[in-house]
Amino acid sequence: MQELKIEKLVKRYPGRDQVVAVNQVDIDVQAGEMLVLLGPSGCGKTTLLRCVAGLEDAQEGRIVLEGRAVFDSASGLNQPTHLRDIGMVFQNYSLWPHMTVQRNVEYPLRARSMGASDRLARAREVLEVVQCGHLAERYPAMLSGGQQQRIALARALAPRPKVMLLDEPLSNLDALLRVELRTHLRAIHRELGFTGIYVTHDQLEAFNLGTRVAVMNAGRIEQLDSARAVYERPATDYVARFLGIRNALELRRVDRGWSSDAGAMQGDLAAIERHADRMQLFLRPQALRLHSPTQALSQASHLSISGGQVQEVLYSGGEVDTVLRFGDTTLYASSPAEGASFKPGDPVTVSFEASKALLYIDGKLT
Ligand SMILES: Nc1ncnc2c1ncn2[C@@H]1O[C@H](COP(=O)(O)OP(=O)(O)OP(=O)(O)O)[C@@H](O)[C@H]1O
Ligand SMILES: [Mg+2]
Repeated sequence: MQELKIEKLVKRYPGRDQVVAVNQVDIDVQAGEMLVLLGPSGCGKTTLLRCVAGLEDAQEGRIVLEGRAVFDSASGLNQPTHLRDIGMVFQNYSLWPHMTVQRNVEYPLRARSMGASDRLARAREVLEVVQCGHLAERYPAMLSGGQQQRIALARALAPRPKVMLLDEPLSNLDALLRVELRTHLRAIHRELGFTGIYVTHDQLEAFNLGTRVAVMNAGRIEQLDSARAVYERPATDYVARFLGIRNALELRRVDRGWSSDAGAMQGDLAAIERHADRMQLFLRPQALRLHSPTQALSQASHLSISGGQVQEVLYSGGEVDTVLRFGDTTLYASSPAEGASFKPGDPVTVSFEASKALLYIDGKLT
C-alpha cells in the first residue's frame, strides 16, 4: 500500500524572477517508510513539505494520502491542512510558550475533541516514548533545545497522524545532541512504524534515518533510492558532487585508450571502455592509492596516472589527506595514517581499482 503519493507536483512562486521551487516531483512513500529528502539550501525541500501539508498551494499535480486525493489541480480539490491528518515538526521547536509540556502535547488532541482523560493518557504515553515523561509540568522556556524538540515530536505524534513531516528537526542542536537524538528518532520510528518524510541537507543524517533517500536539485528529484545505492552509485554527476566525491576527471578518447585532464591513464582500460568519446570519472579520496614513481604497479585490475606531485599532507586523525597536483588538476587522496610516508614536493603516481571509478556520460552514471 502507498501511504503518500505525490504526482507531477509543481509549485511556482510568483514574482519578477519566478521561482519553480518544486518542479514535476513524483514520489511514492510506502506505509511505515521514512523517506529522506536530501539537498542543498534552496532546492525546494521545505516548499515540497509545505505543499504536502496544505500550507502552500501547488499549481499542478496531485497529492494522495492513503488512496484519497487531498490535492488535485485537475479537479480543483485542495483540502485544508487540518483535514489532511498530518503531523509536522520544524527546525524551530515552535511550542506554545504559555502552555506546560503536558498541555502542548494535548493541544492537537483537544483540537480533535478527544475527552480529557483520554487526552491525558495519550499525552503521557507519547511523552514516555520521547523519554520526557518527567518534564510534563514544565514550560518550554525551562527546557533545553533537545528536550523542546522531543516535546515537539511528541506533540506531532500524539494524534497518530497518517504521515509525519519533519523539516530539519535536529539542525538547531549541537553536534553531540544531534547524534543522540538521531539515534533516538530511529528507535522511535522502528517502534511506532509511522510513515514520514524527513528533510535534511546533512548526508550522514539522511543515510542514518532514511529507508530511502531522495536527492533534490533545483526543485527536481535527481535520484530516489536506498541510502546504500545513493552512496555507492550516485545516479548523476550532480549527486556525486553533492555527496562530496571530490575527484572529478574529464576523460577523452585518444588513439590507444583514454586520457584524462590529469594525464594519460594506464592499466585496465578495458574495464572503463564505454561507447562515448568523452566521460567524467568520479572517485572518492579513499579509493586513491599513492605510489612513488619507481614502484612497479602489479595489480591488473587497477588504473594509474603518473606524473603528479604531492602538494600538501594534512593529518586529520586516523587518516591522512593528501592534496596532489597533476598539471592544472588537483586530486585528493585519503589514506590510513599508518604507513603514510609522502611529503610535500614528492613525485607521485596514483592508482585505483577500476571498479571504484564512477563514470558519467552526459551527466548520467553508466
Ligand atoms: N514565500 C516565497 N516566495 C518566493 N520564493 C520563495 C518563497 N519560499 C521559498 N522561495 C524560494 O523557493 C526556493 C525553494 O525554497 P525552500 O525553502 O523550499 O528551500 P529548502 O530546500 O527548504 O532550503 P533550506 O535548506 O535553506 O531550508 C528558493 O529559491 C526560495 O528562495
Ligand atoms: Mg528548508
